[in-house]
Amino acid sequence: MAEENIELLLIEDDDIYCELVRQMLGPGYIIYEAPTGNQGLELARMHQPDCILLDYRLPDIDGLQLLATLTEEDFPVVMLTVEESPEVIVQAMQREAQDYLVKGHISKTSLDQAIANAIEKAALKRDLEEKNRQIRDLASALTLAEQRERRRIAQLLHDEVQQMLYGIQLRANLIAQEAGPELQASIKDHLEQMERFIVQGIRVSRSLAVELSPPLLQDEGLAEAFEWLADQMKETHNLDLELDIRRDGHSLDEDLWLLVFQLVRELLFNVVKHAGVCQARLEMFEEDDYLVIRVQDEGVGFDVEAVKNKQGSEGGFGLYSVRERLGLFGGRLAMESSPGRGTQMTIFVPKAAHVRNSSPSTPRPRGEGSPVPSPSGRGSR
Ligand SMILES: Nc1ncnc2c1ncn2[C@@H]1O[C@H](COP(=O)(O)OP(=O)(O)OP(=O)(O)O)[C@@H](O)[C@H]1O
Ligand SMILES: [Mg+2]
Repeated sequence: MAEENIELLLIEDDDIYCELVRQMLGPGYIIYEAPTGNQGLELARMHQPDCILLDYRLPDIDGLQLLATLTEEDFPVVMLTVEESPEVIVQAMQREAQDYLVKGHISKTSLDQAIANAIEKAALKRDLEEKNRQIRDLASALTLAEQRERRRIAQLLHDEVQQMLYGIQLRANLIAQEAGPELQASIKDHLEQMERFIVQGIRVSRSLAVELSPPLLQDEGLAEAFEWLADQMKETHNLDLELDIRRDGHSLDEDLWLLVFQLVRELLFNVVKHAGVCQARLEMFEEDDYLVIRVQDEGVGFDVEAVKNKQGSEGGFGLYSVRERLGLFGGRLAMESSPGRGTQMTIFVPKAAHVRNSSPSTPRPRGEGSPVPSPSGRGSR
């Protein structure tokens, strides 16, 4: 099978040098030429070349600036220049140039090799990004499957198990009533013991159902579930939770409510465990395209950077898992705290966070950015 020609874009304002490169490369290449940076960018977008050779000094744009734009759009770029300054080389590498060739020292072999390497590295990078994206998709599908399963089990506990236990309780009471006062002492004992087990069983199954998925959440939504959570936190942990709910959260996909609820509960447990105060505040509002939930306390605070560095190793797992799970749906966690000055944890969930199915998706075309935009508007690279 005949090998395909490599499509190359040469962004270079020196005609003589263009001719030299052209002769040096010989057949096997289709070469587009652009004498200015702007024309280069236009040709790159139009022809989507396999590789770009970019001169550092251009008449209209700074070469490094153009390099950043091109690599941002996933083009493999080899810098080609008379500059030998280590500073420029470092800057080019920081802007993800695949290679850096100094004009005076180029041979056909070095040029061929640099181009081949740049193309191969770019293909590997695309592969890796695609695999990462597939892993993210899978992880978010698993998270959602877990949420649905939790709801299903909670429903089963409520509709089936608890109803059965109530049925048994009723029967036990009927046995006692119908046997009358002459009921043998030993049977009476057994019935009383049975009643205790049944009451315990009902209590355990109710709290398990609530733990898995608070009933209010499904029926009413996040705002009501947070009111219920405030009562729970007071009852079980003596935490006074002040609520400031300016949006009810219905703008968010229903499948994400339980996830958001769990994340907020994790933040509140942290207040109980670490802040050393009995009050906290929970706000819910919308900002731009995000549903925002903020948990705030005036407790002992902590060193955010130190905790971030320890996460996943010796540090706790709670905040790490909040961040990771949010990230799966394009959200993020902003942590503000310092020792002695309280803590503010803010969850941003994109209202458009659509719940993806785990169906195979097509690879992302070059230059489209990450499929899950981060709140700063940049891709997740
Ligand atoms: N509201 C808070 N006030 C003070 N310190 C906090 C607060 N929230 C988190 N921290 C600090 O951040 C650390 C990391 O929190 P994280 O939730 O990740 O772990 P953890 O609560 O220690 O353990 P885990 O959640 O895995 O049971 C905590 O150990 C604590 O030092
Ligand atoms: Mg925790």
